[in-house]
Order: sequence, then structure tokens, then C-alpha cells
Amino acid sequence: MSTSTLIIRRPDDWHVHLRDDALLGAVLDATASVFARAVVMPNLRLPITTTGAALAYRARIQAALVPGRRFTPLLACYLTEAIDLSDFRAGVRDGVFSAVKYYPAGATTNSDAGVAEFKRVYPALEALQTLGIPLLVHGEVVDDHVDIFDREAVFIDRVLAPLRRDFPALKLVLEHVTTVEGVAFVTDASGPTAATITPHHLMLNRNAIFERGLRPHAYCLPVVKRERHRLALRAAATSGNPRFFLGTDSAPHLRRLKEHACGCAGIFNAPTALACYTQVFDEEQKLDKLEGFAALHGAAFYGLAANTEAIELAKSNASHTAPDLAIGPDAIRVFTPPGGLRWQVSKLPCAS
Ligand code: NCD
Ligand code: ZN
Repeated sequence: MSTSTLIIRRPDDWHVHLRDDALLGAVLDATASVFARAVVMPNLRLPITTTGAALAYRARIQAALVPGRRFTPLLACYLTEAIDLSDFRAGVRDGVFSAVKYYPAGATTNSDAGVAEFKRVYPALEALQTLGIPLLVHGEVVDDHVDIFDREAVFIDRVLAPLRRDFPALKLVLEHVTTVEGVAFVTDASGPTAATITPHHLMLNRNAIFERGLRPHAYCLPVVKRERHRLALRAAATSGNPRFFLGTDSAPHLRRLKEHACGCAGIFNAPTALACYTQVFDEEQKLDKLEGFAALHGAAFYGLAANTEAIELAKSNASHTAPDLAIGPDAIRVFTPPGGLRWQVSKLPCAS
């Protein structure tokens, strides 16, 4: 039974993994039915590093859409030290690339072709700064000597702060920020600086990975941190500060690859993400700040118009758990926060 409803402007997802082939077909509508636009991450098995590859991938996404869906995939170019800048500029000119994604080489899923030495991409960053295209950063050092829970804070000191200093006009997004240090950097930095925040980093702390046993479905990168970090993220997301906006980092992997001796990093939250964010803002008594975070701040940062459609959410007395998404003989676990979900999307996008 529904106790209250909320109508907000249709949101955008500024960080999502839609994958390819059968997985793309299985996961796409969870994003496309709710979000008007999404920045689609380029870390496919063969990374999207050229305009041609991006055009072909965008066409595959569009072909996989449920007929009638109004959804715009925005593509990010995977940054390598060998990026072809003339091809990239043409991609930007033709509206194919909306952003560039910086993966430190080896930091996460399909990141081996990423950046090993950040000074080597300075010419590319110079071009980005001139074009006004955002650099989206996976902010973790790849260094066995650095504790995995400290890798974001160390990355900020070693890489992000120098980048901010050397490219004062570059649009910089610290993707899936996870720490007090990350929130402070984004809040205080000069120049156009922002961060996306995921539902799971708002709802889990690191105990969730070890709750009475090893929990592979709570494992993602950057890994969820201590409670004080989660609380800092909740404060930032609900603050109304336009530097913080919605990015789900929905990252589907088959259960057999998550429930494994070397389980994949990534949490699939697309079907529940908007309900999760709404629940967080409700718990913080900041529902009035949800629309800014979900539908306004990101568009403004990217220099795009806000959406005009609306979407309705409803809250019920009983909590529920999202079912797995079946895919062939396997399935993908859908993120449900501890204690379950009380919010859900009750009306899909419609004219406001
Ligand atoms: C992402 C994936 O699976 O592609 N995994 C994750 O844990 N977030 C990659 C990423 O964004 O780090
Ligand atoms: Zn991601």
C-alpha cells in the first residue's frame, strides 16, 4: 500500500556500464526506462577509443532499446596514452563523444589499456580543456603498497590535485567518490570540479562485504569504505551543492563471475537506483534536494539543458527486495540495500 508519492523531473545517470551483446540487451531497459540520458562507460572488452568504435557502439545501444523509449546514450572515450587526438576532436565535433574516461591502468574491470603515467596524457588534457569536454576520473592509485581503502585519498594527492593545478579550466569529475577526502577535494577545489555518487556508496559501509561471510555482491571498485565516509557522502549528496550529482556506476556481472574465487568488481543497481537515492534523501529529510542531485546539477555541469519530462515515485509501508535479472541459464543480482527498499518508481516518464 502506497503512503506517499513524489514527482520529480526525469533524471539522468552520469555514469553507467551498459556492456554489449546479450548483457546489453538484458540490462539496457532498466536504465533507459527511467533515465533520460546516461553517460555510458567505454570499458568494453575492446575499449571504445575511437570515434568509429563509439558510433558503432551507440548504434548497438539504440538498436537494443525497447521501441518508443526516449533515451539518449552519451558516450565517453576511453583515454589511452596513444589517443588519436584528431579522431577524438572529430568525434566531439560530430557529437559522438560527450566525455573522456580516465582509468589508471589496472585499476578496475577492463582497465589494462588505461593510463600508466599521467603526464603522458597531458596533450590530451590540453585538448579537453580547450574543447570544454569533461574528464571523468576513476580515482584510485594502482599500487600494491597502498592499502586498498586508501587508494582514493592517495590518488587525490598524487594525481588529481596536480591535474587540477595544471589544467585550471578543465572540467573534472571524480567518478563514484567514496571518501571524506574525495568530498573535501571536490567541495574545495578551484575550477569546474564535480563528483558522481552511487546508491551503494550511500547505503553500504565496508562491513557489508564481510557480513557473516564474504559478500561478493557488495564488492565494487572503488570498494565501499568506513561508516564515516558513507556519512560524508550522504551529507554531500543531499547538501544541494551542484558539484555533486547522480551517477549509479551500475556495473552488471553474471552471478557465476561474482560468486567466484576471484569475483568481479561491480554492483548492478540500475533497476533500483532511483528508488535507492530517493530513500536516502527521504532518510536524510532532504527530499527537496533530490531533483537537483538527480536531474539538474549534472546537466548543468555538462552544459546540457535539463529534461522536461517527469517521473513519479511512491513509498509503501512494506519494504521489498528486487528480484535477480535472469539472463540465459545465469542471472545478475540486483542491488537492494540492507533492510530493503520502500520506494519504487510508480509512473514512468511522462510530459510534465
Ligand atoms: C566497473 C565495471 O565492472 O565495469 N566495476 C566497478 O566495480 N565499479 C568498473 C568501474 O567503474 O570501476
Ligand atoms: Zn564505473
